Amino acid sequence: MNRPVQGQAMLPDAAAGAVSREIMIEVLRYRSEADPKPAPRTYRVPFTDDMSVLQGLQYIKDHLDGTLSFRWSCRMAICGSCGMMIGAEPKLACMTFLRDYYPGSLTVEPLAHFPIERDLVVSVDGFIKKIEGIYPYLIPKMPRRLEEGEYLQTPSQLARYEPFSDCINCMLCYAACPQFGENPDFIGPGAMALLQRYNGDSRDGAQAKRMELVHTENGAWSCTAVGYCSEVCPKQVDPANAVNQNKTKSALDFFLRVLRRPAHSKSRLSGGGAS
Ligand code: FES
Repeated sequence: MNRPVQGQAMLPDAAAGAVSREIMIEVLRYRSEADPKPAPRTYRVPFTDDMSVLQGLQYIKDHLDGTLSFRWSCRMAICGSCGMMIGAEPKLACMTFLRDYYPGSLTVEPLAHFPIERDLVVSVDGFIKKIEGIYPYLIPKMPRRLEEGEYLQTPSQLARYEPFSDCINCMLCYAACPQFGENPDFIGPGAMALLQRYNGDSRDGAQAKRMELVHTENGAWSCTAVGYCSEVCPKQVDPANAVNQNKTKSALDFFLRVLRRPAHSKSRLSGGGAS
């Protein structure tokens, strides 16, 4: 198929004087007011070895096509806003480098499994709802007044939840999750990691409330343990581990509930009777 190519031999401003090569970047474009459906458009982009994919997109926007839309902010893998499919893999555009795709071409598409709003911008409404739903804040076990001092923790208490606090909400794990692709209501890896961050905190008292969500049909048990979510995480948060810990806790909760039931209802549950 013949696809439009735009480009001109021009060094990026920041790289003037440096050795520059060219790479073809195929971007999936979609503007609802003009396009019946998303379609790829290819741009010829000069680059130097220190240029990220995000800088390649910025070059396109500044020099070739000002209508291109994409999200970014920090440019240093902190804000989580530049997640997209790069070479069909979920990646942060600011920490992925053009040199790794040279020679050859590179495809850039919006994050998989999310509705496209415009070009590389996807709707995050569903994700924000999930995050809000897990009570993403500490609900103290025993509220105390300021003059009583801070809540102290031992290093091992901190270690229980600290890895899960590194999540930057980039949603790459959702784009990697086949189950979320099938069922957008699945709570998903990112929200589950954040849930674990609070449920694992010795100062928090809302475990039971959050576990109600874990037990539901769209909770931890919807996960099919593919594990790709942890592979693509740019912060090594390991959301698959968070899901597994919640499956274990959910199973334990179930058995404890059974054990605490009155004896007659337990025997009905197991199908047993008096002998
Ligand atoms: S621009 Fe902030 S994570 Fe990439």
